[in-house]
Amino acid sequence: KKVVLAYSGGLDTSIMLKWLQETYGCEVVTFTADLGQGEELEPARKKAEMAGIKEIYIEDVREDFVKDYVFPMMRANALYEGLYLLGTSIARPLIAKRQIEIARETGADAVCHGATGKGNDQVRFELAYYALQPDIKVIAPWRDWELKSRQQLIDFAEKHQIPIAKDKRGEAPFSVDANLLHTSSEGKALEDPAVEAPEYVYQRTISPEDAPDTPTYIEVGFEKGDAVSINGVTMSPATLLTELNRYGHDNGIGRLDLVENRFVGMKSRGIYETPGGTILLMAHRGIEQITLDRGAAHLKDELMPKYAELVYFGMWFSPEREMLQALIDKSQEHVNGTVRLKLYKGSVDVVGRWSDNSLYSMEHVTFEEDDVYDQADASGFIKINALRLRLLADRNRRIKS
Ligand code: ARG
Ligand code: SIN
Repeated sequence: KKVVLAYSGGLDTSIMLKWLQETYGCEVVTFTADLGQGEELEPARKKAEMAGIKEIYIEDVREDFVKDYVFPMMRANALYEGLYLLGTSIARPLIAKRQIEIARETGADAVCHGATGKGNDQVRFELAYYALQPDIKVIAPWRDWELKSRQQLIDFAEKHQIPIAKDKRGEAPFSVDANLLHTSSEGKALEDPAVEAPEYVYQRTISPEDAPDTPTYIEVGFEKGDAVSINGVTMSPATLLTELNRYGHDNGIGRLDLVENRFVGMKSRGIYETPGGTILLMAHRGIEQITLDRGAAHLKDELMPKYAELVYFGMWFSPEREMLQALIDKSQEHVNGTVRLKLYKGSVDVVGRWSDNSLYSMEHVTFEEDDVYDQADASGFIKINALRLRLLADRNRRIKS
């Protein structure tokens, strides 16, 4: 009887809004989130009002997004399949959670999203819905409706006086998802993975070729594994990521052309831009280098691919993700300090790091004389470690002769 639609204000979800009203004759509540996608939200309100929507939710969730989703994930140094910083994946649980909360506030019994039946996003939305509200009804129009072609969509929009932007009349050149962490582009012109993506695909970074010929240096401060300042200025999570995005943009940092394995089994090719996130990952690894013990560092690195896969597969609200998060958060207790980074033509390098909690001991590591480390101890350490290798070598020599 009532459904909460994740409404971007774009053509597809505007059609969905009308389609829900027509097909189910139900009341629609719209939820539009400002995740830092860089689009005006007021047009979405106008369009919802024009469609007769009475309950319109428009919310700036940028701080929640960075503080409760992006930062926890960054503590893990999460990368899916070695390269993808999970910019779309990490936003879905937040949107789904707010939809469920709004359903409760408004007495709605269903939720609806605009993801297709081929992708990861449908899974992420719906796993989160069911985890938070097991009896919720889910509507995924792309899987159900008869509007199979772009032309049918346009015809439906025209019939219902849904405004269509000029550039949406033809085939959209590719599909874009954007938020404070990243912009992803997939489909259409990008579908052949053998062909380089044209420059116009990139929306939030200049090309490394066009970046300044002189490097930019910045210092990022950390507390308990989270970035808290840039060049000594303390900032809120969303402000900080916005600022890093600016540095990344200006230096051509964070572009990625990737073929990845979707949860549903097919491979897809995407172009990603994660300017601030790419800087943040490098900075975080820089501060962990001096503040994390080797055992802690190696264990969390072993678990990282698993954690990244859980985020990618939409298992944010699962016990195993929460268990891994507790372990990762525990590891970050002493991850405080500052990292100095060099940004230059698409690259980001750690060039300095310091911390009151550093485990780095110049006294121990120096090649000059010291009073803390007895080099003679190392021979026993090596001999005992070599014991099994020597027994193996003996055995192998025996069986050969
Ligand atoms: N492949 C990315 C992911 O699964 C992005 C998906 C959404 N992108 C899009 N252009 N609609 O996380
Ligand atoms: C979609 O299918 O809606 C976008 C791509 C994805 O979710 O993987």
